[in-house]
Amino acid sequence: MKTDQVFEQLCSGCHGKDLSGGQGGSLIDGEWKHGSSDDELLKSIKEGNAQLGMTPFKTILDDRQIRSLVIFIREKEKQAKEKGMTFPKPEPGKVTKTEHESYKIEMVVEEGLKNPWAIAFLPDGRKLVTEKAGRLRIIEADGKLNPEPVKGTPQIIDHGQGGLMEVAVHPDYEKNGWIYLGFADGTREGRDVKTITAYVRGKLKDGEWVEQQQIWKADSKFYTGAGVHFGTRIVFDKGYIYFPVGERGGNMEAQDVENAKGKIYRLFEDGRVPEDNPKFEGKTPVPGLWTYGHRNPQGLDIDPRDGSIYDTEHGPRGGDELNWIQPGHNYGWPVITYGMNYDGTPITGKTAEEGMDQPLTYWQPSIATCGLSFYRGDKFPKWKNDLFAGALAQQEIRRLRIVDHKVTEQEIVLKNIGRVRDVTDAPDGFIYVILNGPDRIVRLVPAE
Ligand code: HEC
Repeated sequence: MKTDQVFEQLCSGCHGKDLSGGQGGSLIDGEWKHGSSDDELLKSIKEGNAQLGMTPFKTILDDRQIRSLVIFIREKEKQAKEKGMTFPKPEPGKVTKTEHESYKIEMVVEEGLKNPWAIAFLPDGRKLVTEKAGRLRIIEADGKLNPEPVKGTPQIIDHGQGGLMEVAVHPDYEKNGWIYLGFADGTREGRDVKTITAYVRGKLKDGEWVEQQQIWKADSKFYTGAGVHFGTRIVFDKGYIYFPVGERGGNMEAQDVENAKGKIYRLFEDGRVPEDNPKFEGKTPVPGLWTYGHRNPQGLDIDPRDGSIYDTEHGPRGGDELNWIQPGHNYGWPVITYGMNYDGTPITGKTAEEGMDQPLTYWQPSIATCGLSFYRGDKFPKWKNDLFAGALAQQEIRRLRIVDHKVTEQEIVLKNIGRVRDVTDAPDGFIYVILNGPDRIVRLVPAE
């Protein structure tokens, strides 16, 4: 049964329909008599308190249902807390103050883009932007959006959440000219669509995509008709590339190291498989496998201070995660998760398991994480090396400070100007943001 209904039927009589309390106390005022941790809430619901009139539910509900009730309570608690808060909603020309820095928002492209997905920067001042339907666009060095998309880019399938997604420029672009693309590859015959995320690289010559090379492509048996969870981002580090392929609704497929879905990969920049990638006894992992147990990673970046890799991934409802990506590790989806299904039915009672990594943080309610970038520039000195995470559903950018692989600060620096599809620091030291609905590109510049 859906958790919202379980609450309505079994709990709302005493705690109120809006959880604000009745015969039983408020569950959304942030005050907890028996402790505020998830475990303590679980215990309150399981064991109850017969003397004070709280029913014990351990024989009425199973662990998955009780766990889902905790997620549900957390969502409502957070929403109640945020109701009274004001968030920086930037307007052009206006200064927005945050904890450490103040910024102004500048329009980069206001019109002419449809479903922009990612942005990358060429050393000559031009910018590349992907549009989901399959177009690679150029913003010229003078800031004007070239009306003609790049010709000859790969055939992609625009289906569900997938299409042309990532674009990334090789760090030695000036020497080698390589540009990488991540997209939904596959076939469409009438209504029969089969896709999976694939990666290529190629070069730009006179407005044309040339010299394309395949970097990563799954075996045809892994192509699927599902329209969800494509993942997709690319980062470069010391001759390697790292990139995710989402689990495509395949759930347990993410746990199978011989299955291409729900993984993060490491390859040499030209697509060769490094010999020292993780090994799994008795198994033949898909070529390039680096980590597994992922759901839908759409944020990936490398800490400039120590080379650690982090991802953000869309979890189920209440289960979006920030993870520290380490070779061979299992990130647990769908065996462990802090979330439940979007319709409010439970997935699992388990949030932890031996041999599976815990997220550094998770978001309840889900924010729909998309785009992730460390800040390497010098225009915002107090943000140096902080991590910026975009969010579609909550239409926000969060700034996180990471110290020793722990989140020590978190704040919302921008909210409610559109769904954030990508956020990235740029060679000019500003922070660029791709927004969907309305489809625009803006950048954050220092207030002075
Ligand atoms: C018959 C009335 C009643 C029902 C039904 C009921 N509760 Fe309670 N609940 C209470 C009372 C009274 C308390 C306070 C008990 C105490 O102080 O120890 C309480 C306490 C709690 C607490 C601990 C609060 C704190 O401050 O630590 C949680 C969590 C909770 N209830 C959740 C639920 C959930 C979830 C359900 C439905 C599955 C539910 N309750 C159903 C009466 C009820």
